[in-house]
Amino acid sequence: MSRQELEAQIAAIHWYHEFDFGQGLIARSSTPDVAAHRRIWRLISDQFDAIDWRGKSVLDIGCWDGYWSFEAERRGAASVLASDDVSQNWAAGAGLRLAKRLFHSRVEINQSLSVYDLATLGRKFDVILCLGVYYHLLDPFYAFAQVRHCCHPGTIVVFEGDMARYGMRADVACLPFGDATAPLFVPTPRTLFNLLRATYFDISAQAFLNSAPRAWAKSAWRRITRRAQLPSVDRAVTVCRPFAGANPLHDYRPPFGLHQYDERFNAARPAAA
Ligand SMILES: C[S@@+](CC[C@H](N)C(=O)[O-])C[C@H]1O[C@@H](n2cnc3c(N)ncnc32)[C@H](O)[C@@H]1O
Repeated sequence: MSRQELEAQIAAIHWYHEFDFGQGLIARSSTPDVAAHRRIWRLISDQFDAIDWRGKSVLDIGCWDGYWSFEAERRGAASVLASDDVSQNWAAGAGLRLAKRLFHSRVEINQSLSVYDLATLGRKFDVILCLGVYYHLLDPFYAFAQVRHCCHPGTIVVFEGDMARYGMRADVACLPFGDATAPLFVPTPRTLFNLLRATYFDISAQAFLNSAPRAWAKSAWRRITRRAQLPSVDRAVTVCRPFAGANPLHDYRPPFGLHQYDERFNAARPAAA
């Protein structure tokens, strides 16, 4: 393929991230607020520095153009599954396939894998990335349970997404439904902590980025809270480890297969009389 054809292919794609494929081949982000996104990407990259990637198996959930999958590979991961559900994706998924080709990458691609179906993989991973995904979800509890099912005892899971640190009651989350312009699920720190605990995860590290209120936030939050004062919707990178044992957040058998991690509930159910 000629250089001109390659450049045309790159230019035809709506890229989320910025890529330097070498030899002057550059993909520019089409995201309107790219400066704000660069700060988020820096925050994520800084948290990656604390992880030993060498020889690890990695699952990247909702990877879009695969930026973080290629980054995991670059940092020494032995295998990477770059997954997405393109029925949810604004980007159709061509960027991931082209970037893989241009990087001569070995990442495995599955673009019809919903976070809600992760357990069907029947695989466990050393590192799981769920970046920029949870705030798009109608059912984060079910999704986190699916992530939990892909963990072995030593797995590290990195979640990243919106978080309301101020201006909302500490023990609630925003899940408004019915507003396609706003992120669906915006937790407070405590709610995210509880949600993770409820799906048998412990937080081992967390880093925040103060974000300026974005256009969607202004209109959506005014509608939802009916308050003029905006809550700040920041970004958070949350690094977790799975745990197993008696979970104080569940007095009763938890749903979605989570009971298997809790010795109080993992005995077989008594047969119906
Ligand atoms: C903001 S992008 C984040 C891309 C990338 N992970 C990152 O952080 O740069 C959101 C991604 O979540 C994916 N997504 C949304 N809903 C999903 C679902 N139910 N299952 C899997 N991926 C989903 C979208 O397809 C899109 O690739």
